[in-house]
Amino acid sequence: MVNAYDIFGGVCVFIVSVQLLRKVFPWIYENLLGPKLIGTGIKLKEMGQWALVTGATDGIGKAYAKALAKKGLNVVLVSRTLSKLEDVAKEIETEAKVQTKIIAVDFSAGPEIYDTIREQTDDVEIGVLVNNVGISYSHPEYYLNLPDTEKLVNSVIACNVFSVTQMCKMFLPGMVERRKGVVINISSMSAVIPAPMLSIYSASKAFVDKFSDDLATEYAKHGIVVQSVLPGPVATNMSKVRRATWMVCSPKTFASSALSTLGIARHTTGYYPHSLLQLSVDMIGFVSPTLSRNITLKTMENIRARAVKRAASKQEPSK
Ligand SMILES: NC(=O)c1ccc[n+]([C@@H]2O[C@H](COP(=O)([O-])OP(=O)(O)OC[C@H]3O[C@@H](n4cnc5c(N)ncnc54)[C@H](OP(=O)(O)O)[C@@H]3O)[C@@H](O)[C@H]2O)c1
Repeated sequence: MVNAYDIFGGVCVFIVSVQLLRKVFPWIYENLLGPKLIGTGIKLKEMGQWALVTGATDGIGKAYAKALAKKGLNVVLVSRTLSKLEDVAKEIETEAKVQTKIIAVDFSAGPEIYDTIREQTDDVEIGVLVNNVGISYSHPEYYLNLPDTEKLVNSVIACNVFSVTQMCKMFLPGMVERRKGVVINISSMSAVIPAPMLSIYSASKAFVDKFSDDLATEYAKHGIVVQSVLPGPVATNMSKVRRATWMVCSPKTFASSALSTLGIARHTTGYYPHSLLQLSVDMIGFVSPTLSRNITLKTMENIRARAVKRAASKQEPSK
């Protein structure tokens, strides 16, 4: 005979199974099946003739610019160093046979840079906007030990936060008018996992992720796709990892993988090994949030110790 305990047990098993399926199937679809078997459902070239990428002369931004050019889009490259912009533009034009435009601005400067960007993009239709530019600390550091905190906070907010809101304000109206467009905002996995000793950076990236999510909902009915990409470690100048591995992939591998998730996932690490990494951190956090935070803190302390030692050895006078 079935008693109350059996019914209670059955209900619990049912709820846990439903919750697991709700999480497991979307994870498999967004990270493995969707990108690998179906690919992006979005024809990027139909979004407009031009893409615009910020922070486009190195790392992930450069890789996005090249990948988009390979898909036939002309690219506006916006970055700080003119000579690097000229080199990347030449590289893209030769390899992909598309047009480029370059705009040299420093995103940590004042709001007047957005007038420059507006003036120089007046004659082009931006269908794909990649808000990639971002800065971080030179190495993980305790908040109170950060040098010139006020300047750093202002630069991080200008580069990582204000750039995203301003660029969206500039290019969303055209997309809304044309009823199509794609906005890709590069956040970071540090926005959603414990990231002690990167507090200002990770908080700025949490802003990007939340802003993207709500913007995606607001403008979906206008035919616009807004994607928040939260990469784990990628081998770039920022991460200071030189040699790419399976986990710390090259920017090229990352950008091509992340682009294949467009239209499939609106909030994604962009690269399935990074999703596995995040899953592992989440699982440790599920068992013990304190353990998860402490493991990250120890890891950050070790990275900091190595960086401080390296800097000290560079400063030592040679004997
Ligand atoms: N690499 C990672 O492991 C990782 C992980 C998670 C998230 N992300 C995010 O991914 C994005 C790209 O990072 P990345 O690793 O590719 O960086 P990166 O290799 O250091 O490249 C940064 C790019 O941004 C430009 N830039 C930097 N500061 C600028 C400024 N003030 N004004 C204008 N342009 C500026 C740089 O131009 P110059 O060469 O002229 O300086 C360069 O083109 C960032 O938003 C970062 O937070 C990276």
